[in-house]
Amino acid sequence: MDLMDAIKGRRSIRKYKPDPVSEETLQKIMEAVRWSPSWANTQCWEVIIVKDPNIKSVLANTLTKTNPSLSSMTEAPIVLVLCGRKGVSGFKKGEATTVKGDWLMFDTGIAMQNLCLTAHALGLGTVVVGNFDHKKVEEILGVPQNAEVVAMTPLGYPAAEGSAPKRKEPSEFVFYEKYLGNK
Ligand SMILES: Cc1cc2nc3c(=O)[nH]c(=O)nc-3n(C[C@H](O)[C@H](O)[C@H](O)COP(=O)(O)O)c2cc1C
Repeated sequence: MDLMDAIKGRRSIRKYKPDPVSEETLQKIMEAVRWSPSWANTQCWEVIIVKDPNIKSVLANTLTKTNPSLSSMTEAPIVLVLCGRKGVSGFKKGEATTVKGDWLMFDTGIAMQNLCLTAHALGLGTVVVGNFDHKKVEEILGVPQNAEVVAMTPLGYPAAEGSAPKRKEPSEFVFYEKYLGNK
């Protein structure tokens, strides 16, 4: 698939078929995560693959009832939970290198985009889910203190395509030479 087609064609998928995803396909997606860029190649990401319907259901309960992805958490055959190791990305000898502190959100964000684009190129759907009770998910999955859960995504074959929400025009966010947005 052409890169621009993949970038533009990927949609948040919230309706899934129950069809299973092969281990081979899953490994291709993990390979895409593996090759994500990261701060000093620190690779702080970790992925928990959840297939157990009971665990998926408990995870779904951490979303608010109004989250549009609620049903997709149990409908899709797999939920991927993206975690990050704390104090690694953006750190040197235990000290934060920049005012931004931990770059964990940034690096796991890139990894998630690689994951979603690769899934899309393989005919699979994803939707980044960020609005849920992170502390509860960490408890459920036994995530230790030195790591945190960042986002989840259902993974499976789309039962319905998503429609593309409108995007800003480049002229609204691209500036030449200096910042020209609203101050
Ligand atoms: C960090 C992040 C968190 C998100 N959280 C949720 C969520 O909790 N529930 C949901 O249904 N969609 C969530 N989304 C999906 C966005 O709503 C979606 O990407 C956006 O509307 C653009 O649509 P598209 O992905 O089809 O291009 C999230 C996306 C991102 C990047």
